[in-house]
Amino acid sequence: MTTSAPSAGKCPFHVPVELQTDFDVYLNPGHTEDPFKALANAIEGKPRVFWSSSNPMAKQPGSWILTRTEDMRTVMRNPKLFSSEENAGFSKLLGESWSLVPLEVDPPRHGALRAWVNPFFASSVIPAMEPAIRETCVGLIEQFRAKGRCEFVNDFGRPFPVTVILQLLGLPVSELSRFLDWEDKLLHGSDFPTKIAAARQIKDYLLSQIADRRANPKDDLFTKAAHAEINGEPLSEDDILGFCYLMFVGGLDTVASSLGFHYQYLAEHPELQARLRKDPSLIPQTVEELLRRFSIVITHRRATEDTEIAGVQIKAGDWITIHTPISALDDTIHQSPTTVDIDRPNKMHMTFSFGAHICLGMHLARRELIIALEEWVSRVPDFRITEGAPLRTHGGGVYGVDELHLEWN
Ligand code: HEM
Repeated sequence: MTTSAPSAGKCPFHVPVELQTDFDVYLNPGHTEDPFKALANAIEGKPRVFWSSSNPMAKQPGSWILTRTEDMRTVMRNPKLFSSEENAGFSKLLGESWSLVPLEVDPPRHGALRAWVNPFFASSVIPAMEPAIRETCVGLIEQFRAKGRCEFVNDFGRPFPVTVILQLLGLPVSELSRFLDWEDKLLHGSDFPTKIAAARQIKDYLLSQIADRRANPKDDLFTKAAHAEINGEPLSEDDILGFCYLMFVGGLDTVASSLGFHYQYLAEHPELQARLRKDPSLIPQTVEELLRRFSIVITHRRATEDTEIAGVQIKAGDWITIHTPISALDDTIHQSPTTVDIDRPNKMHMTFSFGAHICLGMHLARRELIIALEEWVSRVPDFRITEGAPLRTHGGGVYGVDELHLEWN
């Protein structure tokens, strides 16, 4: 068992010394080259459930890390015992107390909020969005296809899903680079003043947009939020802000990050590209397997009572980290979990979480990833990573790719 006691005074008394580690929840050595490999090295030999004193972004004095998908699911299926309140903590950065809606809200109110918002993202409404999503996708690919190369992240990975979500929310696509800059600083900013300034800029901007939709209703999601009623009561000002904030932050980063890892993998595996070109009907199962393999989000819950997980005592108030990239390495669920095998019969994953808070945007995200792959394999010939060009990734609360140069003949 690899255990190194963290610096004295940081660890709560009830954590047994053999479970204390200085595992960094977000950044492991080597994360700028391959955060999944860096993570696998960092958790090697760790107990099934262990304590990390190093959760630098927010959770103090640290959190419990679960290494088994089974234990993560136990936590996620019991929101009464494991609360989502202050999970992301953006409002706390500003010294305020509004919640991201519905992410930081517990049942039963969570259920009412999801019942209001689910219809906008149900699998049945996604087909109607498909023509616009495909048009955006094709438009971007056609801008670089003839050049025989692209920097994937800036030319496609970010602008594609971000344009889709901005259109849905009703925010101006022309402001895309400003939004990405705020979001980068909030999620990946290296110091608290940078994060706080970004959190405030986003909040001020969103409040101005909400006020605008009250005065000038449009056919967009911000208008729906500004005028929403739940059980006959208007949504509170805080809930409207919390919903718009979550849509803005959650919608901008996650699909882009997934695309980065998926296309890095495809560029390194021409045989998979060839198979998909020959038989595009394999694309949905390929996307599902890539989602399983490259699970990117780290989230948290807080115990509301004393309890135990896999025999380890958890005290009321303890944070528990649901580290979905660790779940993607769990060999008790999948044989050779780091191998991409599109024919794997069981592709069960935690990538979109599990339980009450399962990702609201998962049907949209899957559709975007499928459309992207359909258009890439039909329009772009055998693509590969440009030799000698920089390839940079990051760990953090959402793993991602910063720079990925691709070329084709
Ligand atoms: C591949 C892309 C995506 C991934 C990997 C992803 C992942 C996740 C995860 C892990 C959670 C659960 C967090 C928790 O339980 O604490 C979540 C929740 C959520 N996601 Fe996504 N997401 C993606 C795309 C999207 C998109 C495109 C949207 C926007 C429409 C979105 C909106 C949300 C919302 C609103 C929640 C909160 C749901 C609730 O609390 O009930 N996600 N997502």
